[in-house]
Amino acid sequence: MLDTYRHKVVLIGDGAVGSSFAFSLLQSTNEVDELVLVDRTRSKAVGDAADLADITPLTNPVKIYAGTYEDAADADVVVITAGIPRKPGETRLDLVNKNTTILKSIIEPIVKSGFTGVFVISSNPVDILTTIAQRISGFPKERVIGTGTSLDSMRLRVLLSKKLHLSVNVIDALMLGEHGDTSFAAFNEITIGGKALNTITALSNTDKSEIEKAVHEAGSQIIANKGATFYGIAKCLSYITRAIIENRSLVLPISAPLDGQYGIKGLYLGTPAIINSQGIGQVVEYPLTSDEVKKMQQSAEAMHQVLAKIEI
Ligand code: LAC
Repeated sequence: MLDTYRHKVVLIGDGAVGSSFAFSLLQSTNEVDELVLVDRTRSKAVGDAADLADITPLTNPVKIYAGTYEDAADADVVVITAGIPRKPGETRLDLVNKNTTILKSIIEPIVKSGFTGVFVISSNPVDILTTIAQRISGFPKERVIGTGTSLDSMRLRVLLSKKLHLSVNVIDALMLGEHGDTSFAAFNEITIGGKALNTITALSNTDKSEIEKAVHEAGSQIIANKGATFYGIAKCLSYITRAIIENRSLVLPISAPLDGQYGIKGLYLGTPAIINSQGIGQVVEYPLTSDEVKKMQQSAEAMHQVLAKIEI
Protein backbone atom coordinates (compact mmCIF):
# COMPACT_ATOMS: atom_id res chain seq x y z
CA MET A 1 0.00 0.00 0.00
CA LEU A 2 1.10 3.52 -0.66
CA ASP A 3 1.12 5.77 2.33
CA THR A 4 1.63 9.17 0.72
CA TYR A 5 -0.81 10.82 -1.62
CA ARG A 6 0.62 11.92 -4.89
CA HIS A 7 -1.72 12.52 -7.82
CA LYS A 8 -4.68 10.95 -9.54
CA VAL A 9 -5.09 11.07 -13.29
CA VAL A 10 -8.19 9.91 -15.16
CA LEU A 11 -7.92 9.07 -18.85
CA ILE A 12 -11.08 9.23 -20.95
CA GLY A 13 -10.60 7.37 -24.21
CA ASP A 14 -8.26 4.39 -23.98
CA GLY A 15 -7.64 3.97 -27.71
CA ALA A 16 -4.24 4.13 -29.39
CA VAL A 17 -3.57 7.72 -28.21
CA GLY A 18 -4.93 7.10 -24.70
CA SER A 19 -3.04 3.88 -24.02
CA SER A 20 0.19 5.35 -25.44
CA PHE A 21 -0.32 8.34 -23.13
CA ALA A 22 -0.78 6.04 -20.13
CA PHE A 23 2.36 4.07 -21.06
CA SER A 24 4.33 7.31 -21.43
CA LEU A 25 3.01 8.91 -18.23
CA LEU A 26 3.94 5.92 -16.10
CA GLN A 27 7.50 6.24 -17.32
CA SER A 28 7.68 10.04 -17.05
CA THR A 29 6.85 10.84 -13.45
CA ASN A 30 6.88 9.48 -9.89
CA GLU A 31 4.08 11.81 -8.92
CA VAL A 32 1.12 9.75 -10.06
CA ASP A 33 -0.21 7.18 -7.64
CA GLU A 34 -3.56 6.48 -9.28
CA LEU A 35 -4.30 6.14 -12.98
CA VAL A 36 -7.88 5.41 -14.03
CA LEU A 37 -8.70 4.27 -17.56
CA VAL A 38 -12.19 4.94 -18.89
CA ASP A 39 -13.31 3.65 -22.26
CA ARG A 40 -16.69 2.88 -23.80
CA THR A 41 -15.24 -0.59 -24.49
CA ARG A 42 -14.71 -1.49 -20.86
CA SER A 43 -12.77 -4.66 -21.62
CA LYS A 44 -10.13 -2.55 -23.41
CA ALA A 45 -9.65 -0.46 -20.25
CA VAL A 46 -9.61 -3.58 -18.04
CA GLY A 47 -7.03 -5.24 -20.30
CA ASP A 48 -4.85 -2.14 -20.54
CA ALA A 49 -4.97 -1.58 -16.77
CA ALA A 50 -3.62 -5.10 -16.23
CA ASP A 51 -1.07 -4.81 -19.03
CA LEU A 52 0.18 -1.43 -17.72
CA ALA A 53 0.28 -2.69 -14.12
CA ASP A 54 2.86 -5.20 -15.32
CA ILE A 55 5.38 -2.41 -15.98
CA THR A 56 5.07 -0.84 -12.51
CA PRO A 57 7.77 -3.00 -10.85
CA LEU A 58 10.18 -1.27 -13.23
CA THR A 59 8.62 2.19 -12.91
CA ASN A 60 6.63 3.17 -9.80
CA PRO A 61 3.93 1.60 -7.67
CA VAL A 62 0.88 3.15 -9.33
CA LYS A 63 -2.65 1.88 -8.78
CA ILE A 64 -4.15 1.40 -12.27
CA TYR A 65 -7.73 0.37 -12.90
CA ALA A 66 -10.64 0.59 -15.32
CA GLY A 67 -13.12 3.11 -13.97
CA THR A 68 -16.01 5.44 -14.73
CA TYR A 69 -16.60 9.18 -14.99
CA GLU A 70 -17.35 9.27 -11.24
CA ASP A 71 -13.68 8.49 -10.60
CA ALA A 72 -12.92 12.05 -11.72
CA ALA A 73 -14.45 13.40 -8.47
CA ASP A 74 -11.08 13.57 -6.68
CA ALA A 75 -8.77 13.54 -9.69
CA ASP A 76 -6.12 16.19 -10.33
CA VAL A 77 -6.13 15.86 -14.11
CA VAL A 78 -8.65 14.44 -16.58
CA VAL A 79 -7.12 13.71 -19.97
CA ILE A 80 -9.58 13.40 -22.85
CA THR A 81 -8.50 11.65 -26.03
CA ALA A 82 -11.93 10.22 -26.86
CA GLY A 83 -13.32 10.95 -30.27
CA ILE A 84 -13.43 9.69 -33.81
CA PRO A 85 -9.93 9.90 -35.30
CA ARG A 86 -9.17 11.11 -38.81
CA LYS A 87 -9.34 8.68 -41.69
CA PRO A 88 -6.98 9.01 -44.65
CA GLY A 89 -7.93 12.14 -46.61
CA GLU A 90 -9.95 13.76 -43.81
CA THR A 91 -9.01 17.08 -42.20
CA ARG A 92 -9.25 17.57 -38.46
CA LEU A 93 -12.12 20.01 -39.00
CA ASP A 94 -14.15 17.27 -40.74
CA LEU A 95 -14.55 15.64 -37.33
CA VAL A 96 -16.11 18.57 -35.55
CA ASN A 97 -19.79 17.61 -35.27
CA LYS A 98 -19.31 13.99 -34.22
CA ASN A 99 -16.60 14.83 -31.74
CA THR A 100 -18.54 17.73 -30.22
CA THR A 101 -21.37 15.31 -29.39
CA ILE A 102 -18.92 12.83 -27.87
CA LEU A 103 -17.18 15.57 -25.89
CA LYS A 104 -20.47 16.83 -24.47
CA SER A 105 -21.38 13.33 -23.29
CA ILE A 106 -18.08 13.21 -21.40
CA ILE A 107 -17.72 16.71 -19.93
CA GLU A 108 -21.20 16.82 -18.40
CA PRO A 109 -20.89 13.70 -16.18
CA ILE A 110 -17.34 14.63 -15.23
CA VAL A 111 -18.38 18.08 -14.05
CA LYS A 112 -21.30 16.42 -12.22
CA SER A 113 -18.83 14.10 -10.46
CA GLY A 114 -17.47 17.16 -8.62
CA PHE A 115 -14.15 17.23 -10.51
CA THR A 116 -12.18 20.38 -9.68
CA GLY A 117 -8.88 19.64 -11.43
CA VAL A 118 -7.53 20.42 -14.88
CA PHE A 119 -8.85 19.09 -18.19
CA VAL A 120 -6.25 18.29 -20.85
CA ILE A 121 -7.77 17.58 -24.26
CA SER A 122 -6.27 16.16 -27.44
CA SER A 123 -9.41 15.13 -29.36
CA ASN A 124 -9.63 16.84 -32.74
CA PRO A 125 -10.23 19.48 -33.92
CA VAL A 126 -8.48 20.29 -30.67
CA ASP A 127 -8.73 24.10 -30.59
CA ILE A 128 -12.47 23.98 -31.27
CA LEU A 129 -13.11 21.12 -28.85
CA THR A 130 -11.09 22.77 -26.08
CA THR A 131 -13.06 25.99 -26.55
CA ILE A 132 -16.31 23.99 -26.37
CA ALA A 133 -15.14 21.95 -23.36
CA GLN A 134 -14.50 25.14 -21.41
CA ARG A 135 -17.90 26.55 -22.37
CA ILE A 136 -19.81 23.37 -21.50
CA SER A 137 -17.92 22.80 -18.25
CA GLY A 138 -18.12 26.40 -17.08
CA PHE A 139 -14.63 25.84 -15.68
CA PRO A 140 -12.22 28.75 -15.26
CA LYS A 141 -10.37 29.01 -18.56
CA GLU A 142 -7.00 28.24 -17.00
CA ARG A 143 -8.25 24.79 -15.98
CA VAL A 144 -8.97 23.65 -19.54
CA ILE A 145 -5.99 23.02 -21.82
CA GLY A 146 -5.73 21.64 -25.35
CA THR A 147 -2.64 20.00 -26.81
CA GLY A 148 -2.71 22.73 -29.49
CA THR A 149 0.45 23.10 -31.52
CA SER A 150 2.64 21.12 -29.13
CA LEU A 151 2.95 18.25 -31.59
CA ASP A 152 3.26 20.55 -34.60
CA SER A 153 6.13 22.32 -32.81
CA MET A 154 7.91 19.01 -32.20
CA ARG A 155 7.48 18.15 -35.87
CA LEU A 156 8.89 21.54 -36.82
CA ARG A 157 11.94 20.94 -34.60
CA VAL A 158 12.52 17.51 -36.14
CA LEU A 159 12.33 18.93 -39.67
CA LEU A 160 14.65 21.84 -38.79
CA SER A 161 17.10 19.44 -37.22
CA LYS A 162 17.25 17.44 -40.47
CA LYS A 163 17.53 20.56 -42.61
CA LEU A 164 20.20 22.25 -40.48
CA HIS A 165 22.07 19.08 -39.44
CA LEU A 166 21.79 20.10 -35.80
CA SER A 167 20.61 18.19 -32.78
CA VAL A 168 16.87 18.54 -32.28
CA ASN A 169 17.59 19.27 -28.62
CA VAL A 170 19.29 22.62 -29.30
CA ILE A 171 16.51 23.86 -31.57
CA ASP A 172 13.73 25.90 -30.03
CA ALA A 173 10.96 26.54 -32.52
CA LEU A 174 7.22 26.95 -32.37
CA MET A 175 4.24 26.35 -34.58
CA LEU A 176 1.38 28.65 -33.62
CA GLY A 177 -2.33 28.97 -34.38
CA GLU A 178 -4.64 26.08 -35.18
CA HIS A 179 -3.47 22.50 -34.71
CA GLY A 180 -4.24 21.97 -38.37
CA ASP A 181 -3.91 23.41 -41.81
CA THR A 182 -3.77 27.11 -40.86
CA SER A 183 -0.94 26.73 -38.33
CA PHE A 184 2.31 28.54 -39.09
CA ALA A 185 5.93 28.46 -38.02
CA ALA A 186 7.22 31.43 -36.04
CA PHE A 187 10.42 31.43 -38.14
CA ASN A 188 11.65 34.78 -36.84
CA GLU A 189 11.71 33.51 -33.28
CA ILE A 190 13.64 30.26 -33.84
CA THR A 191 16.67 29.89 -31.57
CA ILE A 192 19.60 27.48 -31.73
CA GLY A 193 21.17 26.93 -28.33
CA GLY A 194 19.54 30.17 -27.20
CA LYS A 195 20.89 32.23 -30.14
CA ALA A 196 18.70 33.62 -32.91
CA LEU A 197 18.74 31.30 -35.93
CA ASN A 198 19.88 34.11 -38.24
CA THR A 199 23.07 34.64 -36.20
CA ILE A 200 24.07 31.09 -37.16
CA THR A 201 22.52 30.28 -40.52
CA ALA A 202 19.66 31.30 -42.79
CA LEU A 203 16.66 29.57 -44.24
CA SER A 204 15.52 30.61 -47.69
CA ASN A 205 11.86 31.38 -48.33
CA THR A 206 11.64 28.11 -50.26
CA ASP A 207 13.08 26.21 -47.27
CA LYS A 208 10.54 27.87 -45.01
CA SER A 209 7.53 27.08 -47.13
CA GLU A 210 8.69 23.49 -47.64
CA ILE A 211 9.20 23.00 -43.91
CA GLU A 212 5.83 24.51 -43.03
CA LYS A 213 4.11 22.35 -45.65
CA ALA A 214 5.85 19.26 -44.28
CA VAL A 215 4.58 20.09 -40.77
CA HIS A 216 1.04 20.47 -42.12
CA GLU A 217 1.24 17.16 -43.92
CA ALA A 218 3.08 15.17 -41.24
CA GLY A 219 -0.03 13.82 -39.50
CA SER A 220 -1.80 12.85 -42.76
CA GLN A 221 1.31 11.07 -43.98
CA ILE A 222 1.54 9.00 -40.83
CA ILE A 223 -2.17 8.20 -41.14
CA ALA A 224 -1.70 7.21 -44.80
CA ASN A 225 1.07 4.80 -43.76
CA LYS A 226 -0.09 3.29 -40.49
CA GLY A 227 -3.73 4.35 -40.19
CA ALA A 228 -3.33 6.61 -37.16
CA THR A 229 -0.94 8.85 -35.24
CA PHE A 230 -0.43 8.25 -31.55
CA TYR A 231 3.09 8.30 -30.08
CA GLY A 232 3.71 11.98 -30.83
CA ILE A 233 0.47 13.28 -29.41
CA ALA A 234 0.62 10.84 -26.48
CA LYS A 235 4.04 12.20 -25.50
CA CYS A 236 2.70 15.77 -25.68
CA LEU A 237 -0.16 14.74 -23.39
CA SER A 238 2.12 13.13 -20.84
CA TYR A 239 4.50 16.09 -20.93
CA ILE A 240 1.66 18.56 -20.28
CA THR A 241 0.17 16.31 -17.56
CA ARG A 242 3.53 16.02 -15.86
CA ALA A 243 3.99 19.81 -15.98
CA ILE A 244 0.67 20.15 -14.13
CA ILE A 245 1.09 17.51 -11.47
CA GLU A 246 4.72 18.40 -10.80
CA ASN A 247 3.92 22.14 -10.87
CA ARG A 248 6.82 22.63 -13.27
CA SER A 249 5.92 26.04 -14.76
CA LEU A 250 7.09 24.99 -18.21
CA VAL A 251 6.43 27.23 -21.19
CA LEU A 252 4.74 24.99 -23.75
CA PRO A 253 2.93 25.65 -27.02
CA ILE A 254 -0.59 24.52 -26.20
CA SER A 255 -4.15 25.49 -27.02
CA ALA A 256 -4.74 28.37 -24.62
CA PRO A 257 -7.65 30.79 -24.12
CA LEU A 258 -6.90 34.04 -25.94
CA ASP A 259 -8.31 37.17 -24.41
CA GLY A 260 -6.93 39.99 -26.50
CA GLN A 261 -3.50 38.49 -27.21
CA TYR A 262 -2.66 38.90 -30.91
CA GLY A 263 -5.93 40.86 -31.15
CA ILE A 264 -7.92 37.62 -30.68
CA LYS A 265 -10.64 36.87 -28.16
CA GLY A 266 -13.10 34.17 -27.24
CA LEU A 267 -11.35 31.00 -28.37
CA TYR A 268 -8.49 28.64 -27.65
CA LEU A 269 -5.58 28.66 -30.07
CA GLY A 270 -1.97 27.48 -30.18
CA THR A 271 0.34 29.85 -28.31
CA PRO A 272 2.97 29.37 -25.63
CA ALA A 273 1.70 29.33 -22.07
CA ILE A 274 3.10 28.63 -18.62
CA ILE A 275 1.81 25.27 -17.39
CA ASN A 276 1.78 24.62 -13.64
CA SER A 277 -0.45 23.01 -11.02
CA GLN A 278 -3.16 25.61 -11.68
CA GLY A 279 -3.31 24.54 -15.33
CA ILE A 280 -2.47 27.57 -17.44
CA GLY A 281 -0.51 29.88 -15.16
CA GLN A 282 -0.21 32.52 -17.85
CA VAL A 283 -0.74 32.83 -21.58
CA VAL A 284 2.51 34.06 -23.08
CA GLU A 285 1.95 36.48 -25.93
CA TYR A 286 4.83 35.78 -28.25
CA PRO A 287 6.45 38.87 -29.86
CA LEU A 288 5.37 38.18 -33.44
CA THR A 289 6.03 40.17 -36.60
CA SER A 290 3.00 41.88 -38.14
CA ASP A 291 2.87 39.18 -40.84
CA GLU A 292 2.80 36.48 -38.18
CA VAL A 293 0.07 38.28 -36.23
CA LYS A 294 -1.96 38.30 -39.46
CA LYS A 295 -1.47 34.53 -39.81
CA MET A 296 -2.57 34.06 -36.22
CA GLN A 297 -5.68 36.13 -36.90
CA GLN A 298 -6.43 34.14 -40.06
CA SER A 299 -6.18 30.94 -38.04
CA ALA A 300 -8.54 32.45 -35.43
CA GLU A 301 -10.98 33.51 -38.15
CA ALA A 302 -11.06 29.96 -39.55
CA MET A 303 -11.78 28.65 -36.02
CA HIS A 304 -14.48 31.26 -35.34
CA GLN A 305 -16.24 30.28 -38.57
CA VAL A 306 -16.37 26.64 -37.51
CA LEU A 307 -17.43 27.51 -33.95
CA ALA A 308 -20.28 29.70 -35.21
CA LYS A 309 -21.85 26.67 -36.91
CA ILE A 310 -21.75 24.41 -33.87
CA GLU A 311 -24.75 24.18 -31.59
CA ILE A 312 -23.90 23.34 -28.01
C1 LAC B 1 -1.72 14.56 -35.38
C2 LAC B 1 -3.04 14.41 -34.73
C3 LAC B 1 -2.90 14.29 -33.26
O1 LAC B 1 -1.43 15.64 -35.88
O2 LAC B 1 -3.89 15.46 -35.03
O3 LAC B 1 -0.92 13.61 -35.34
